[in-house]
Amino acid sequence: MIRIAIQSKGRLSEESLALLREAGIKIDELKRKFLARAADFPLEVLYLRDDDIPGVVAGGSADLGIVGYNEVAETGADVKIVRKMGFGACRLSLAIPKAQEYTGPSFFEGKTIATSYPNVLEGWLASNGVKAKIQKIMGSVEIAPAAGLADAIFDIVSSGGTLVSNGLKEVEAVLQSEAVLIAAKDLDAEKQAILEKLLFRIDAVMESGGKKYILMNLPTDKVSEAVKILPAMRSPTVMQLAAEGWCSLHSVVLESELWDKIERLKAIGAEGILVLHLDKVID
Ligand code: PRP
Ligand code: ZN
Repeated sequence: MIRIAIQSKGRLSEESLALLREAGIKIDELKRKFLARAADFPLEVLYLRDDDIPGVVAGGSADLGIVGYNEVAETGADVKIVRKMGFGACRLSLAIPKAQEYTGPSFFEGKTIATSYPNVLEGWLASNGVKAKIQKIMGSVEIAPAAGLADAIFDIVSSGGTLVSNGLKEVEAVLQSEAVLIAAKDLDAEKQAILEKLLFRIDAVMESGGKKYILMNLPTDKVSEAVKILPAMRSPTVMQLAAEGWCSLHSVVLESELWDKIERLKAIGAEGILVLHLDKVID
């Protein structure tokens, strides 16, 4: 049995659970209790506050965790980063009232900065040779300047909406973050084996992200041209159609290249093009 800590509520919890679900691991989400067992995989989920996850994994009370890299950096917890998860992208940034002119890092000299991330901020201040006062607050950081608690804030920015609605502007992006899968150092052999199994599934889910399954009818004499457009995983599948001189070509294509490739395929005579959702990809 392996134990994974995930955020009980907040920006990463839904996507963390969705990833496990897509990896075929079912957790009863209706009973989101402190600890929940998966139905068909040797795994249990521990629901925690995001800031507690790195420490709990480093201390060995959980074997794995899905958490924002920002929390790993802030706590300095001694854990292994096993995978970047490709969701939960955000950054830790300095922001100041919109009306003020930003003159560079020295702007913060002697100022008070409100944050829930004092350690990361301290590092940035030190490496820029700036002395400022750090006011640690655990929530509603964005209202600190208007409330007269601070001159500036250092907080998570994702869409930037929170800054705008509080009359603030981002002036320094200090740390880029996304969700990461972390693991305790020195997992025993049994847990390591379960982790490998889990990673195999997670990789298949992530590998399918941003990819589509594409199939089309194509004049048989155009196959070699089509293969150049669609290299696929090894090479595309070609099947004979009942109609003389035509075949069906199947492949996998990156979503970002989808429309460009469809145009080029149409130009060489492809028709009846179907684009399908891809669930898992095992390389
Ligand atoms: C963070 C941060 C801001 C908001 C920024 O809070 O403290 O309030 O997200 O996001 P935006 O740029 O998309 O507006 P979060 O939702 O993570 O909650 P928390 O402060 O309780 O951790
Ligand atoms: Zn938080």
